[in-house]
Amino acid sequence: MIGPSLFPVSAALSGGDKEGERNQIGVWGKMDKANDRASGLLGRLSGFMRSCLFRVLRMGPIPTHYSFIMDGNRRYAKKVNMGEGAGHRAGFFALVSVLKYCYEVGVKYISIYAFSIDNFKRRPDEVKTIMDLILEKIEGLLEEGSIADQYGVRVYFVGNLKLLDERVRIAAEKVMEATAHNTRCVLLICIAYTSCDEIVNSVRECCKDKLEEIEDKEGGGGGVVVNEHSAIQLVDIEKHMYMGVAPDPDVLLRTSGEKRLSNYQLWQTTHCTLYSPTALWPEISLLHVVWGILKFQRSYAYFEKKKKML
Ligand code: FPP
Repeated sequence: MIGPSLFPVSAALSGGDKEGERNQIGVWGKMDKANDRASGLLGRLSGFMRSCLFRVLRMGPIPTHYSFIMDGNRRYAKKVNMGEGAGHRAGFFALVSVLKYCYEVGVKYISIYAFSIDNFKRRPDEVKTIMDLILEKIEGLLEEGSIADQYGVRVYFVGNLKLLDERVRIAAEKVMEATAHNTRCVLLICIAYTSCDEIVNSVRECCKDKLEEIEDKEGGGGGVVVNEHSAIQLVDIEKHMYMGVAPDPDVLLRTSGEKRLSNYQLWQTTHCTLYSPTALWPEISLLHVVWGILKFQRSYAYFEKKKKML
């Protein structure tokens, strides 16, 4: 496999992000020992400062579910004169840092919009580059020492997985199976996903269930009584949502200043704080993640009240 394995713990969960940063700019220069020591020290120092900051943040409520729309990877590549694929690769390293921050502060569920069904309409070579990157990184999750392995992350791939290339689908299924026993944190990778598709799929599944129920009753000779209880209920729809394995998101952060949801978690975001910093996804930093949490804390009382009014 080219490059570091997926979510290398050194980049994802230790003090510094030097490995990720070197990849972002595509340089793998040799560091001398003095540099090594200095960056190790800086990493420990920034890790310590982060843990102090997170202690203060934890005085208030921490979102249970933090969701991200990783927008602006191609624009970033253009901005820094890199190839389009390098923009997505830089986006991946930004994702590793974001996961690390969420994990450290105590967020239990993290979801990301990795690839929308609409993204399949992009140029075939672009789709292939992104899918190759995703495949490379999800295969890394199966390796010993990956973040999933060491830090107890359960991974779900959420979406219409039938639409994926077979290699990606098989790797995704293997990762879901291999991490099914992990309980510390849950990562939901929305891939081949749109909310419209999620809702349509759920309604279809509900109809199938109801039909089976009716056929069972008919087979039992009891006749069919149609009343309001035989109709599809809200709970039935929610049960069949791809996102049904997680509570609704508390904060949704979309980079690059866009304020649209782009068919992402439309059903789940009624009581969700939205935050759209102007930074492009590969430029996302600790401060953005923290700011999203502060916005959540500020609107916490309001949303709690709204939820109870339902
Ligand atoms: C949107 O930016 C982002 C994507 C289409 C894909 C992002 C995927 C990754 C960062 C890799 C994730 C890897 C794993 C393993 C889940 P864009 O391409 O639309 O950029 P633009 O908004 O500048 O056009």
